[in-house]
Amino acid sequence: MLQKSPSEEEPFLLPQISSEWQENLVESGQSIMIISDLHYEQTYHHGVWEGEARDWLLGMVRSAKSASLIALGDLGHAWRAVDWKCLTDLVPVHAIYGNHDNMEVLHSARNNDGTRVLAEDGEVRVIGGLKVGFINGIMAKKGKTKVKDGVPRQSAEVFLSAVAKLVGVDVLATHASPYLPEYGSRYHASDEFEVLDQVLTQVNPPLSVSGHLSGPYTLSKLRDTTILRIDSSPAERHYALMDFGTRQIRIMHDHDQVEIGSFAEFS
Ligand SMILES: [Fe+2]
Repeated sequence: MLQKSPSEEEPFLLPQISSEWQENLVESGQSIMIISDLHYEQTYHHGVWEGEARDWLLGMVRSAKSASLIALGDLGHAWRAVDWKCLTDLVPVHAIYGNHDNMEVLHSARNNDGTRVLAEDGEVRVIGGLKVGFINGIMAKKGKTKVKDGVPRQSAEVFLSAVAKLVGVDVLATHASPYLPEYGSRYHASDEFEVLDQVLTQVNPPLSVSGHLSGPYTLSKLRDTTILRIDSSPAERHYALMDFGTRQIRIMHDHDQVEIGSFAEFS
């Protein structure tokens, strides 16, 4: 399994796939687009303007022609109802919140068929024939507030109580990411890493998708689970296209493919 850690900045070599396969993927609409940490804000962050994140996403959605979009939180505070309308007119969206979201607008967002964009903790949605289970948010640190900037913080109990509903899913979708050995000392041990590891162990999904941690992406493996962490922020602009027929995952940077992986072998 090819891997990339957040600390590695050099360009990744592109594995070649046939143009025929790419054309089939695009023409058949057999993919699910996965983003996280879009951070659509009317501000600069570390010198990067984040006010065009929504337009970047709309452009990538139009180009990918995916059947569905899974958004893993930290979409940003700049989202208004009209922005959600623009997006859901293009593609059905299944989202969770992270720790930087406009909760009021996200709660109200609907797809064109009337279904809610925002998934609940422990909710399972069948997307492209795959069972995708969701857990929102990040865990509150000990002694810290349960809501910050309008976004709820979760407890270990919420994460662990979702497990019973999520056993048997093909894809576990969370904002918080599990700790991976390739992160080394970049991240300190935390209750959240520990609880997420328990969730992964008990749910044991073929594929885990998440965000929250910064850096372009990580595609790795933990026990029996393929782990994908993705960063779609204006600084990184990465997303994934998951082919739900072949169970292959293409990692994209803008319009360029940077890696291809699979979770078929674990199903
Ligand atoms: Fe986050």
